[in-house]
Amino acid sequence: MSFLETLQKNAMIPEKYKQMTREELENRVMEVKKQLGSRLFIPGHHYQKDEVIQFADATGDSLKLAQLSAENTEAEFIVFCGVHFMAETADILTNDNQKVFLPDMRAGCSMADMADIEQTERAWEKLQALFDDTILPLTYVNSTAAIKSFVGAHGGATVTSSNAETMVKWALGMKERILFLPDQHLGRNTAADLGIGLDEMAIWNPITNELEYDGEVSNIRVILWKGHCSVHENFTVQNVADTRVQYPDMKIIVHPECRREVVELADMAGSTSYIINAIEQAEQGSSWAIGTEMNLVNRIINEHPDKQIISLNPHMCPCLTMNRIDLPHLVWSLDTLEDTNNIIKVDPEISENAKLALDRMLKNS
Ligand code: 13P
Ligand code: SF4
Repeated sequence: MSFLETLQKNAMIPEKYKQMTREELENRVMEVKKQLGSRLFIPGHHYQKDEVIQFADATGDSLKLAQLSAENTEAEFIVFCGVHFMAETADILTNDNQKVFLPDMRAGCSMADMADIEQTERAWEKLQALFDDTILPLTYVNSTAAIKSFVGAHGGATVTSSNAETMVKWALGMKERILFLPDQHLGRNTAADLGIGLDEMAIWNPITNELEYDGEVSNIRVILWKGHCSVHENFTVQNVADTRVQYPDMKIIVHPECRREVVELADMAGSTSYIINAIEQAEQGSSWAIGTEMNLVNRIINEHPDKQIISLNPHMCPCLTMNRIDLPHLVWSLDTLEDTNNIIKVDPEISENAKLALDRMLKNS
């Protein structure tokens, strides 16, 4: 079935699921979970809605969810509450007897869509001509399986926001320079934290198929793919300045998918798990402005009534694709585990090299 057909099929969630009450939907999830026991595993990313995350068997950031997928050899059905690239990663890391489902196939990631395999192959050809065999590719896990496969085939690895520093160091120990896909901000923030100058970083523009850099190209150590997260780009230097004026004692903590200027001005930066842990360990009465996705920020606010917590951007909204996974889709998915509906199956040829890239990361994390 083509991707388009899959989408069309998934657009047709039977009407009955939309008519069910919240109580009926919740009861149905509990019923299926009870029936299937350890045959079913529901991982949930921290950005998922409360109505869904309450049923997750495990929650985590991208690294933890990848590690759990690699460890879980028991569950026959993995219903992934997250976005498409996360479910693909789970499929790559689990065995052939395990089936991975994404409750709504429209739950993509706009950042992952900013690097396609044709663009990457074209870029690589040009970069090889410029730099010979001195580049190692690294890709943020927020990328398609095809990009992971490309990276794996060229000796590189995946990274997540919680191990990016380790992986960039690892890569620069192997080759003189790296190509970092597809998030320029995570790449720039990580390299800068490792002491690499902004003047040693170039941008690869996949639309013009050109390197954007003023200077002597032999000085380049990091080539940043020109992609970004449309959610985290909404945190601005102005938001930081306003917060500092309005709440002078407030600590600002952001995700490294935010722009460099924002991360530099913040007090702390790290993955979703890092943010959760930092607030958990913070003193009672302390105050925080958080720069990340809104479902998570609201959950942290509700879980810490003893602290003053706000979103760094007061007009922030949730990640729209993460939000596509809701209770009706979860129940529909659980009701159709024996169908091919909502199944994520990565082509074995792509999966083999993508697994190499993921395994290199898991070994180093
Ligand atoms: P982490 O949970 O790994 O920090 O990832 C954030 C993210 O944007 C996932 O899409
Ligand atoms: Fe993609 Fe950004 Fe949404 Fe994460 S928050 S899934 S990177 S669009």
